[in-house]
Amino acid sequence: MKVGIDDISFYTSNYYLDLRTLAEVHNIDVEKYYVGIGQEQMGMPAPDEDVVTMGAAAALPIVRQLEQPESISTLLFATESGIDQSKSAGVFAHQLLGLPATCRVVELKQACYSATAAIQMACALVARQPQQRVLVIASDIARYDLDSSGEPTQGCGAVALLIAANPRLVEIEPLSGLHTEDVMDFWRPNYRSTALVDGKYSTKIYLKSLKSAWQHYRQQGGRSLREFAFFCYHLPFTRMAQKAHAHLLKLESAELTAAEAEAQITDTLQYNKRIGNSYTASMYIGLASLLENAREDISEKLIGFFSYGSGCVAEFYAGRVVPGYQQWLRKHEHQQLLANRQQVDYQTYRRLYAYPNPVDGQEHNIAAETTGPFRLAAINQHKRIYQAV
Ligand code: CAA
Repeated sequence: MKVGIDDISFYTSNYYLDLRTLAEVHNIDVEKYYVGIGQEQMGMPAPDEDVVTMGAAAALPIVRQLEQPESISTLLFATESGIDQSKSAGVFAHQLLGLPATCRVVELKQACYSATAAIQMACALVARQPQQRVLVIASDIARYDLDSSGEPTQGCGAVALLIAANPRLVEIEPLSGLHTEDVMDFWRPNYRSTALVDGKYSTKIYLKSLKSAWQHYRQQGGRSLREFAFFCYHLPFTRMAQKAHAHLLKLESAELTAAEAEAQITDTLQYNKRIGNSYTASMYIGLASLLENAREDISEKLIGFFSYGSGCVAEFYAGRVVPGYQQWLRKHEHQQLLANRQQVDYQTYRRLYAYPNPVDGQEHNIAAETTGPFRLAAINQHKRIYQAV
């Protein structure tokens, strides 16, 4: 039986900072950001947005279009920037989306990797009971310290994927290559709102994990490199995909021209250049970018997926694009979402960055600012109160 991605939808905040603004403030050549790390803009959430509102906003178009929302048996919510140590962000999203009480909900964490774990678990559930559909939501706000090397690689975004039998977009093949290793390249202790990162080391571990996961995939009889037409990599910044792809091609002594190598990844990068890092969501926003921006019909083409989560866990797997996929995409809505965002100046960026996270249990009403369908309206007695806009 074929199992895979039946629907995909993403969301990002209505504010963004152009990295030219950051470069001017730091007196850095903007080409370092635009070319050196391959990022042009980064999304900044409004004070009344968080991973719940973004994740529910990403999933809303999928749920609205379902004739039987009760066929969603499970909601898996993947995030690095969760809002509660105990309660799953997915339970809040479940309520905002009006999903049935008969749906199981859980949150998954392993840095930027956990959406891939969610998708593999979803495929297993659907393979066991093909009438089930599983909603996977990946949602994150990437935050680093001001003036750190990670600052230009911030961002925010969420993606929702419906996993089903006989999928309309991408069939996921069962074989995976895996690599897990206890390393401290990027982490965030419970008391911190920004990540700690050993930047250069993290890029080295990313490449090492790619090699190990790929080799594990091949050792088990995985497809050869030349069978793949495209590659979706985890995208902490888009230049990382170029480095990763060059690494993989070199490892396999592939004889591709620079243009041929670039063509295998370039369409995956279009949205992330403008959204920034969205941790768990980033690779799957890259998939939406590929499906929606490919210059030709890519039906039947094979995509290699490399998912990486610091700490670290990595996975390589393959997916095949289903013929007719184009009619199920949300290209217009996604491009409108990006086009309608508002650019902010540096002062506004600092205001959004520093928005307080009250911990005193008092009543804090939050001014309406997001243009998304859901908002965090208040925090009262330590309870987050969400509402539809
Ligand atoms: N024009 C063009 N390019 C320029 C330039 C200019 N004027 N000035 C510099 N560059 C180039 C540099 O040559 C360099 O290119 P190469 O990597 O090809 O050598 C590139 O711009 C970056 O410059 P630096 O090497 O000086 O890098 P930096 O010190 O500013 O930091 C970084 C880069 C370490 C990635 C930093 O952005 C960072 O710490 N980011 C957060 C961590 C991260 O994203 N890690 C990725 C792997 S971990 C992961 O994937 C999980 C996750 O999501 C976090």
